[in-house]
Amino acid sequence: MKLTFKEDNSQFWEDIYLEDDAGWDLGGPTPIFESMADSMSPGELCIIGCGKGYDAIMFAQKGFDVTAVDFASSAINALEELANENDVNIQIVQKDIFSLTPEHINTFDYIIEQTCFCAINPSRRKGYEQLVRKILKPGGKLIGLWFPLDKHPDEEGPPFGTTLKEVKSLFDNGWKIVKEEFPDLSIEPRKGREKLIIFKKN
Ligand SMILES: C[S@@+](CC[C@H](N)C(=O)[O-])C[C@H]1O[C@@H](n2cnc3c(N)ncnc32)[C@H](O)[C@@H]1O
Repeated sequence: MKLTFKEDNSQFWEDIYLEDDAGWDLGGPTPIFESMADSMSPGELCIIGCGKGYDAIMFAQKGFDVTAVDFASSAINALEELANENDVNIQIVQKDIFSLTPEHINTFDYIIEQTCFCAINPSRRKGYEQLVRKILKPGGKLIGLWFPLDKHPDEEGPPFGTTLKEVKSLFDNGWKIVKEEFPDLSIEPRKGREKLIIFKKN
């Protein structure tokens, strides 16, 4: 594939991890996802752009069949180590999320989105919608923390900003919103800047 944008290149992300500059890394599971997990029926769950994968561990410990995808070696190595330490079984996949098809078509009950959408170039967002639509099963849910809502999509990134209007218009065909809220459990620096929206694939 021809690389067009700097952030399409795994080395761009790898360098950030190597420089210990991964400001997005929470160092543990995401509070809102952790609180939701107990009321979700376990199933096939995919975390795209999973980073070091604390949520992958958390969902696996709660009985989900987790596939965690990232293309940066440091993220994958950290997740492998964490999975071994916690003795959990996770499908850890080091590849570009845009190459999850055709292998994973109609595979997942859930996709977890956290700061992956804002990591890819805005011009690829329709491709992102098509990707998640293809890899979810019919009736599957895209559980996303859509972020950052206080930055204009045209500003330099990553992270690339978005708006609720943009997110909803991307998912306006073949999807239904089943939940939408500004979570009380957002971490302090993201309060009001991220919104939980769960889209269900028809
Ligand atoms: C901002 S970080 C977020 C990581 C994680 N979701 C978290 O919240 O800690 C974005 C992650 O997505 C990964 N990533 C970006 N574009 C990707 C792509 N096209 N395919 C696979 N991984 C990608 C990067 O390597 C990085 O680990």
